Amino acid sequence: MKIALFGGTGPTGRHIIETALARGYALAVFARDPAKLAAFVGRVEIVVGDLRDRDAIKACTAGTDAVISALGPNSLKAREKRPITRGVATIISVMEELNVRRLIQVSTPAYRDPKDGFDLPSRAFVMLFRLIVRNAYDDIRATAEQVRRSSRDWTLVRIPNLWDGPATGRIAIGWYGRTKLGMKLSRGNLARFLVDQVTATDYLRAAPGIADRP
Ligand SMILES: NC(=O)c1ccc[n+]([C@@H]2O[C@H](COP(=O)([O-])OP(=O)(O)OC[C@H]3O[C@@H](n4cnc5c(N)ncnc54)[C@H](OP(=O)(O)O)[C@@H]3O)[C@@H](O)[C@H]2O)c1
Repeated sequence: MKIALFGGTGPTGRHIIETALARGYALAVFARDPAKLAAFVGRVEIVVGDLRDRDAIKACTAGTDAVISALGPNSLKAREKRPITRGVATIISVMEELNVRRLIQVSTPAYRDPKDGFDLPSRAFVMLFRLIVRNAYDDIRATAEQVRRSSRDWTLVRIPNLWDGPATGRIAIGWYGRTKLGMKLSRGNLARFLVDQVTATDYLRAAPGIADRP
């Protein structure tokens, strides 16, 4: 089993890579700055490029069985509009061309799912986020909407605030306003859930929220 990982150069990326390697999966990891993957040289394939480079995205995706994308806006200085949405559009198009079906994309409660109920804490958090970083909010929503519309076997994994903790396996999974979902998630728990989805089928074409369970 081989996974293409996009957005693997942030702090969650390290957890995803370690979790996937521990399961015996091979990985092709996309990076605009390969120095960020120095700790993994020789253990994963590193593909250098940016999200506007279709050939690089294709080189990373070719020969893989699933794509995990932890891509998310992490800069207030992005020069183009909705860079993640555009990048993920290219990833989806490349997956269609190469017939790679499984796509697991990190998202947040900024994307509202039809199965959600009303949940004041997450709505308040999203409203504040939208007020402060409108571009990032728009990019996250548009990314999720296009993943949802895509022909791939997608899962959107909606998450709250991350902290740099290990995988405990104690997580709540469900829909905002219907399931009690806290406002924190360890990066280890996120990584484990993402890698689990490569073979799991419970959340195919679904957008669960996940959070640490105390
Ligand atoms: N931190 C939180 O509390 C929180 C809360 C909700 C959701 N999230 C989401 O969870 C995921 C992991 O977060 P994290 O804090 O561990 O790491 P992060 O630093 O937010 O990871 C973002 C990843 O996306 C890549 N990226 C961002 N903009 C890009 C662009 N224009 N072109 C190419 N790549 C781009 C980054 O690459 P570079 O390393 O090259 O920048 C990095 O690999 C992200 O999707 C984030 O948005 C985080």
